[in-house]
Amino acid sequence: MGDIPVLQGDKIVSALRGAFTRDVGRPALLAMAAERIHSAGPPYHSVYLYMLHGQELILEAFVGRPTDHTRIPVGSGVCGTAVATGQDQNIGDVRTIGNYLACNLETRSELVVLIRRGSMILGQIDIDSDVPNPFTADEEREVKKVADALAVLL
Ligand code: SME
Repeated sequence: MGDIPVLQGDKIVSALRGAFTRDVGRPALLAMAAERIHSAGPPYHSVYLYMLHGQELILEAFVGRPTDHTRIPVGSGVCGTAVATGQDQNIGDVRTIGNYLACNLETRSELVVLIRRGSMILGQIDIDSDVPNPFTADEEREVKKVADALAVLL
């Protein structure tokens, strides 16, 4: 209780707003979001920005371990489940998930926060961590600040 979250969402949101006013464009905003979240350090080991194109999530930016999953159909894996159900996913132990799409053997947990504009899902912030169950409600709230800013700025 009362612990300061590892991720400082407000600082990232300010940086994104600054970049937006400089007209940097969508790829740079997504790259900046991934970099800033990743630079918070563990448990934010790898950060992926998947954006929804029709019925497919497409990887548009990432920082951390590369992944073979550059396109994920809605409904597939943790990422596709978030879109299909309209629910953020906080998976404390990925080994418990039947349809988990593994990127590497080190990842133990995963947090997916949807980027929503009103009722429309634009994409998601997907975070992989090497440690089990690290994403508290406070961490989740900080990630959501970034997702909500992107929904406006993209
Ligand atoms: N684990 C995800 C796939 C994306 S990678 O984590 C980057 C999933 O199950 O949807």
